[in-house]
Amino acid sequence: MVVYSPHKVILFGEHAVVYGYPALSAAVDLFAKIYLIPSRTGLQYTPFVQRTLSYLGLRNVYVKVETRVPSGSGLGTSSMIIAGILMSERDFTKEQLAREAFNIEYETQGLGSPIDTSTISAGGFVLTNGSEGIPLWSIEKNGISWSFSSIPTRNLELVIVYSGSKGSTREQVAKVRKFYERGSLARDIMSRIGNITEEGVRAVMRGEKEKIGELMNENHSELKVFGISTEQIEKIVTVGREYGYGAKLTGAGGGGAVIIIPRDKGKLLGKLREMNYLVFDTATTSAGIFKRAE
Ligand code: MEV
Repeated sequence: MVVYSPHKVILFGEHAVVYGYPALSAAVDLFAKIYLIPSRTGLQYTPFVQRTLSYLGLRNVYVKVETRVPSGSGLGTSSMIIAGILMSERDFTKEQLAREAFNIEYETQGLGSPIDTSTISAGGFVLTNGSEGIPLWSIEKNGISWSFSSIPTRNLELVIVYSGSKGSTREQVAKVRKFYERGSLARDIMSRIGNITEEGVRAVMRGEKEKIGELMNENHSELKVFGISTEQIEKIVTVGREYGYGAKLTGAGGGGAVIIIPRDKGKLLGKLREMNYLVFDTATTSAGIFKRAE
């Protein structure tokens, strides 16, 4: 059995979602192949892989992941691998998979929200803590609750650019948390991001690329205040704004990737490749994680 798992992007609301504010995410048409291969040697695993294997009572397996996307790019790799291992062994419903994968991720990381695991499980556009769409499921942890719904709308073309360095979700979430606990500035930012997300959902439902881009720019400016952008991210965002409708970091930041809504795609891709960035010319997809015999 091979599991095909989509990477994910957050269009609006990363970090704010950790505190229960709304966010809009989507699965993208970049699928990793995940297989379990028997292995007699005890191999090195990252803590989240180890925890997932022990949850399933598995030993002596090697987890093979084929993707062109670097880990630490903010595109959901760890959630995909956890969900992929679970799914290759059991027939979970999408909801069970989202819950179990989040529990394992949370136990390993000790922080964060269930946005990545829910998006990868459900596929399509996923709204967290908003009023639009078709209800999916709710998940609660430590007094914060997240309700998910599916936003049925046309897929959106995206250019995703790897900034060249990995970002650590754990570090960036902890950094933002310090801000959040210190006073009202961070809370005001989170609540503005919440409003941007709500407007963003309406723009995505109407397919208004110009508006989506404008709101992405606003969301990026708010995130920058937390110190989670980098020089490379800013360079890419500048190019993205010149040849696209808008651009922002996606995921935790501190490295990782930028998403751009392309306007003049030929020029955009040409410029980014000339600058030697790893670029993915892709789109959102309605498919979530699935498995089949190869
Ligand atoms: C990670 O993809 C998004 C963050 O909001 C963390 C989380 O929600 O777990 C930064």
